[in-house]
Amino acid sequence: MLTTGPRGTRDILPDSSGYWQYVENMMREVCRNFAYQEIRTPIFEHTELFLRGIGETTDIVEKEMYTFTDRGKRSITLRPENTAAVVRSYLENKLYAGPQPAKLFYIGPMFRYDRPQAGRYRQFHQFGVEAIGAQGPAVDAEVISLAVELLQRLGLTDLNLFVNSVGCPVCRPVYRLKLQEFFRDKLAQLCPDCQSRYERNPMRILDCKNETCTHHAQGAPHMADCLCDECNSHFNGVKELLTAAGISFVINPRLVRGLDYYTKTAFEIQYAPLGAQSAVCGGGRYDGLVAECGGQPTPGIGFAIGIERVLLALEKQELLPPANTAIDVFVAPLGAEIQPVAFQILTAVRQAKLAADMDYNNRSLKAQMKYANKYPAKFVALIGQDELAENKVMLKNMATGSQELVDRADLIQMIIKGMEK
Ligand code: HAM
Repeated sequence: MLTTGPRGTRDILPDSSGYWQYVENMMREVCRNFAYQEIRTPIFEHTELFLRGIGETTDIVEKEMYTFTDRGKRSITLRPENTAAVVRSYLENKLYAGPQPAKLFYIGPMFRYDRPQAGRYRQFHQFGVEAIGAQGPAVDAEVISLAVELLQRLGLTDLNLFVNSVGCPVCRPVYRLKLQEFFRDKLAQLCPDCQSRYERNPMRILDCKNETCTHHAQGAPHMADCLCDECNSHFNGVKELLTAAGISFVINPRLVRGLDYYTKTAFEIQYAPLGAQSAVCGGGRYDGLVAECGGQPTPGIGFAIGIERVLLALEKQELLPPANTAIDVFVAPLGAEIQPVAFQILTAVRQAKLAADMDYNNRSLKAQMKYANKYPAKFVALIGQDELAENKVMLKNMATGSQELVDRADLIQMIIKGMEK
């Protein structure tokens, strides 16, 4: 137990943390291009926020939340997603009083008691954006194009963007009735989950991965045929804008998302080579969520990208940048008594903003050179008894193999000069 982390959690080790920084930097860069600003909300929230926000009959709320009672007897939940929390923060911090839409992004861990497998974890990380306070289809197109731009900038190909409209409280009830009618005589054959979805949320049957349910869902009525005029013209607007921006998409009438807050536009980006966990991005419009959380009716739209899945996709396409562990200087003291001077040199080198390290284990000269090569180090600064006595350092250029005895006072300048060559 003490040497194993909880199931579904993973350590991000030094040999892969550079990949995380690479994708996170790209996310920040794209958000800058699209004028989205970072928001950081707490890892835990009042449970009530997710019950109301995500919906009590969703899989997330019913089966997947990490909920506990704190010492003050409050029910607390580790965030399973961040849209509800961003909306809470928008209201609490009166972001509605600022420029609208509020264009926000976040990067951070989420927690779901999911069945762990490749691409699915109990602690995972999302990059998400939320645009709160704009009604028209242009902001839908902007949010979708941000996700596409990011994934393309990372170099991913084989991506499929699926879009759909899940309607609104005006037209969805009509569609629900149609679906219930369609599934009525197939109910006994559906999986137990879908049997309970039939009454509570029949649209989720369309999304079930069970083969029998998929089979029985063939020929089900499409939401697109039941949209009210407003939803229909909104959906047409989104399609038109995406087309104008040259973003290819596929309309998937069976795309229903697993969270209750969605209205109108719903979308997903899949990377097929990932197999069962191919959804790298999911999002949509949530025009009722701000009011559900206690604010004035305010429209919103956003998405979240699973960072682990993006990294898996990048690995598959061999797009991960090589790890950078290189340093500028390795300080090599030859003998324990030389350590204080070596440490003094190391300190000065670092203060000059060079990347540097030294030997702390009294290794032999040969072992230190091998160690320096592993980083690799551009220069090795050797200090033996002779150098110490003369206030000098033997500076070895690891690329050329040449070495030169330099005054300690000139060391940093010599290194910088050598690096410029
Ligand atoms: P979601 O579809 O539940 O949507 O999650 C978005 C993405 O997070 C998924 O497409 C997937 O890449 C990743 N993801 C979800 N669960 C896991 C897991 N257990 N392990 C690894 N990755 C996972 C949301 O969370 C919404 N809040 C998105 C949104 C934002 N809608 C509007 N604004």
